[in-house]
Amino acid sequence: MNTGHWIRHFTRNTPLNDSLRLPPAPVTLPDEIRLPLAASLAVFQLGESGGGTRLRRYAREVAPLVNFRGYQRAVDLFIAEEQSHSRLLERVVLHLGGSLIEKQWTNSVFRRLRGLVNLEFAIQVLLTAELVAEIYYGALYLRVSDPVVRVMARKILQDETRHLEFQREFLSERLATFSPAGRWLWRLQFEAVHAVTAAVVAWDHRHCLKALGVGLPEFFERTRKAWAVFQRRLDSRIRVLRECGGVAQVLSPTNP
Ligand SMILES: [Fe+2]
Ligand SMILES: [Fe+2]
Repeated sequence: MNTGHWIRHFTRNTPLNDSLRLPPAPVTLPDEIRLPLAASLAVFQLGESGGGTRLRRYAREVAPLVNFRGYQRAVDLFIAEEQSHSRLLERVVLHLGGSLIEKQWTNSVFRRLRGLVNLEFAIQVLLTAELVAEIYYGALYLRVSDPVVRVMARKILQDETRHLEFQREFLSERLATFSPAGRWLWRLQFEAVHAVTAAVVAWDHRHCLKALGVGLPEFFERTRKAWAVFQRRLDSRIRVLRECGGVAQVLSPTNP
């Protein structure tokens, strides 16, 4: 894994979120949109605010592998970037006249799920949320007229697209070491977990999606397509890794 590339990327990109200038425009959105949108963004704000304790702990487990040298540092920077999203979202929630929240049931469920099995599963739960978030921020960018919301949605969308690449690079190198049956099973549960995540998020944010004119079946279908694209790219990267012998490297620990 090219961790150096990711360390450089996060180091350069994350500060841009705190210094991002939001247009000094007053909110002109009608309350039917403003209120559910602010409530929905407050949930995302809370979700991005986590300290990544479990993720950091898991990342230590792969640190001895040659291919993941620097991964711990990259994960630290990745978590810092998610926290910068939280700060950016906080500015937007306040701009919309909304209130920040400290606890919310879907957030608690996702945090608990991430701690269940291992690093691959923790990354995968995070990834399913990021795949759904990609569709959510895309809808915001296209359908909300407020310039502050659009600037934020565009920036977070750009960042999340890179996060998907970051997770894909990690997972492809891990999954390349699995047997074909193991990969098949992994894919099956990934698709199932993603579908459940998409349904939960769609339900949880239904008032906001409705206010934006996005039907739940449409939202669900878009998230399914995003999953299929991600999985196709993941498969082709795994194929390349296995063909060019990257697996041997993945299996070589620096400290046997
Ligand atoms: Fe994020
Ligand atoms: Fe992310």
